[in-house]
Amino acid sequence: MGASNGIQRGYSAPVMAWYLGTAWLQSRVLRNKVPRFMSWNLTFKCNLRCHYCASPTLKVPELKTQEILDGIDAFHRLGMRWVTFSGGEPLLRNDIGTIIDHAKSKGIVVFISTNGTLVPRRMDVIRRVDRITISLDGGPEAHNRVRGEKAWADATTGIRAAQAEGIPVACTCVLSRENLHTVDELLELAEELGVNIMFQPATKWLDSSDKPNDLAPDTDEYRAVIDKLIARKRAGARIANSPAGLKILRRWPDPTPIRSTAGWITCTVEPDGKLIASHITSGGLLEQAREDDAPPWEHFAAMQPLDSTEQPWCGPILELDLVFSLSPSAILNAARIQT
Ligand SMILES: C[S@@+](CC[C@H](N)C(=O)[O-])C[C@H]1O[C@@H](n2cnc3c(N)ncnc32)[C@H](O)[C@@H]1O
Repeated sequence: MGASNGIQRGYSAPVMAWYLGTAWLQSRVLRNKVPRFMSWNLTFKCNLRCHYCASPTLKVPELKTQEILDGIDAFHRLGMRWVTFSGGEPLLRNDIGTIIDHAKSKGIVVFISTNGTLVPRRMDVIRRVDRITISLDGGPEAHNRVRGEKAWADATTGIRAAQAEGIPVACTCVLSRENLHTVDELLELAEELGVNIMFQPATKWLDSSDKPNDLAPDTDEYRAVIDKLIARKRAGARIANSPAGLKILRRWPDPTPIRSTAGWITCTVEPDGKLIASHITSGGLLEQAREDDAPPWEHFAAMQPLDSTEQPWCGPILELDLVFSLSPSAILNAARIQT
C-alpha cells in the first residue's frame, strides 16, 4: 500500500510475498495451521440497527483490554500478520486506540471495519490503521432504509474524512432486497468517492434458526444483479470482488465446493473470546465449543476448520479462499487492488 501522510502502510511487496507464500506452504502443503489473517469482533454493540444484522441484539460479555492485548501477542507468536477489527461497531470501544497501537507495535497490518459514523470523532485513533472499510449499502435512500436516518450522510462524511487524512478506504455493500436495484447508483458513487466496493449477500449470520435472513434478496433478482456486476467489472467499474469471486457469489445460496482457508490460515475471535473458523456462513452461527476457560489462542490448533458444506459468504474471506486456491483471476484482482 505504501506511504501516505508520512505513515508507512501495509507490507512491502517482498515481505507480503513471504508471509503469503509461507502461509500457503504451511497450510496447503504441510497441513499446519497458521492464523495469518484474523478477524476480531471486539464488540457486538452497535450505534446503528441495520435490518439484516443481528449483532446488536446479542448480549455477550467482552474481553477486557489486557486480555485483548495478550491475545494479540499470542496470535502474533502463532503467525498473525493481518488483523481486521470489526464488530458490532469497533469504534465504540473506548480502548480501540490502545488495541490498534498495540497491534501496530508488533508490526501487524491493521484493518478496521466500521459503519463510518464515528470516524471523524475517532480520527486520533484510526490515523494509524492500514486501511479502513466502511459499509455503503447503496445510495442515500437504500442505505438509510437499511441502516437508519442520516446513516448515509455519516458514512460518506467518514469516507471523506479518512481520505483527507491519507487513510486508504474500501467499502462493503451488502446486497439485500432493499438495494438490489441501486447498484448502478452505488457504482457511480464509488467512482466519485474513489473507493472500491466489495459485494456480499445479506445472509445468515449470528443466527442459528432455520429461517433465511429477513432482508435476503430474491434469488433470481440477486443473480441478475451479480450478472450485471460481472459485466460492470469487465468494463472497469470499482468492484473489489474478483470475477471468480463474483461467479461463486452468483450461486448464493447454493455453496460451491472450494477449499476454505477458515480454521487454517484465518479465523475469528468473538467479543467474549470465543474462537470460530469463519463468520457469515451458510450455516449461520458457527461456534467452536469452549469446554474450559482457556484463552482463545489455546484453541486455535485444535479448532475444526470450515468444511466444504459451509460456504463463507463474507466477500473478503471468499477472495482469500480463492487466492489460496491459486485462482489466477483472484490473484490478479488482489494484486491490482493492493496497488
Ligand atoms: C458486522 S459489520 C461490523 C462493522 C460495522 N459496524 C459496519 O456496519 O460495517 C461488518 C460487515 O458485515 C456486514 N453484515 C452484517 N450482517 C450481515 C449479514 N447478515 N449478511 C451479510 N453481511 C452482513 C455489514 O454490512 C458490514 O459490511
